[in-house]
Amino acid sequence: MPQLSLSWLGLGPLAASPWLLLLLVGASWLLARVLAWTYAFYNTCRRLRCFPQPPKGNWFWGHLGMVPPTEEGLREVTQLVATYPQGFMKWLGPTLPVITLCHPDFVRSVLNASAAVAPKDVIFYSFLKPWLGDGILLSAGDKWSRHRRMLTPAFHFNILKPYVKIFNKSVNIMHAKWQRLASEGSVCLDMFEHISLMTLDSLQKCVFGFDSNCQESPSEYIAAISELSALIVKRNRQLFLHADFLYYLTPDGRRFRRACDLVHNFTDAVIQERRRALESQGVDDFLKAKAKSKTLDFIDVLLLAKDENGKELSDKDIRAEADTFMFGGHDTTASGISWVLYNLARHPEYQERCRQEVRKLLRDREPKEIEVYEPFRFDPENPQNSSPLAFIPFSAGP
Ligand code: HEM
Repeated sequence: MPQLSLSWLGLGPLAASPWLLLLLVGASWLLARVLAWTYAFYNTCRRLRCFPQPPKGNWFWGHLGMVPPTEEGLREVTQLVATYPQGFMKWLGPTLPVITLCHPDFVRSVLNASAAVAPKDVIFYSFLKPWLGDGILLSAGDKWSRHRRMLTPAFHFNILKPYVKIFNKSVNIMHAKWQRLASEGSVCLDMFEHISLMTLDSLQKCVFGFDSNCQESPSEYIAAISELSALIVKRNRQLFLHADFLYYLTPDGRRFRRACDLVHNFTDAVIQERRRALESQGVDDFLKAKAKSKTLDFIDVLLLAKDENGKELSDKDIRAEADTFMFGGHDTTASGISWVLYNLARHPEYQERCRQEVRKLLRDREPKEIEVYEPFRFDPENPQNSSPLAFIPFSAGP
């Protein structure tokens, strides 16, 4: 048998068996992959050099953990935007660059890109995938375009308007709870916790037509959504747990799976129940009953949606969209409302201006008659001149 000298590897003379050849091929493949990755990484770094970088905390962790999810963190974000008004780059660990675009002129090229090429987050969103599936937040390209078109009726004014009553009811429950807690002597409330429960309560009613009374007594479903959201934010900050195979070995990973199953079972059960109602009543009677209650739940819109070829959404697609709206709608609005309350508390003069405006509007009128949405009226700079891309969530999207 021919001998192969691998003394340079410290292995001594070995028989050139098929195993050895396989080892060599494997090692060459690995080396080629490492080289290709290194070249791609070098290229990426070179192309990103044009973005300014705030000073790193550490060569390995980069900027990871430097902007904590706290009040101090928010102040730092404000400072970063002031220092780098066009945009900047941060490193999450040694190999993951994240670009933040601030100025509308820079945001424009991303937002105006067609759905086929518009980039979507790959890392943070991959953590959401087992929960949200292929809902419009995570999907891209043709699937995103088709679903986005099919969901258009859900945003019609006549569908959205009755939801205001639901919001008012959920807020009244929250206020009553605050009054009770204050009269019992509580002086310190975690507003975000209460407001999150209120937004989750509202969404569960709008999306599923389901009243879990979660603001007054614990709800397994609502607790699971809060847990999933918190676990995902936590995982994002733990670089070593980004890999699925490691994450699902941890207690957090197992908790994530359990909460995901619970949330999916809830959504599946509502879909099945609505499908049965739709089949037994027929579409016309189903819609008549809905017209009487004056509210079409989001899940109904999804069940009734059809594309250009008359094809409906599958149960899996409906679940993904319903779960996506539950996620997309609760934390964002709860954070926004908490932020507004925080600032009103810090700036009593603006609080007073808001109070006066609300009083003036409410004089001799029912709150439900009032539809005012003009967020820029307190803005001292001329708002008419601000770019429609200045605030991404409500601006022209892809
Ligand atoms: C203050 C409140 C909100 C903020 C700041 C906000 C922020 C955003 C942002 C930045 C995006 C773009 C994400 C991306 O493309 O990667 C987005 C998309 C989305 N949001 Fe919101 N959002 C808010 C309220 C809501 C509400 C109330 C819902 C639903 C009930 C919702 C559902 C969605 C969905 C489904 C998407 C994906 C849209 C698509 O890709 O076509 N959001 N939101």
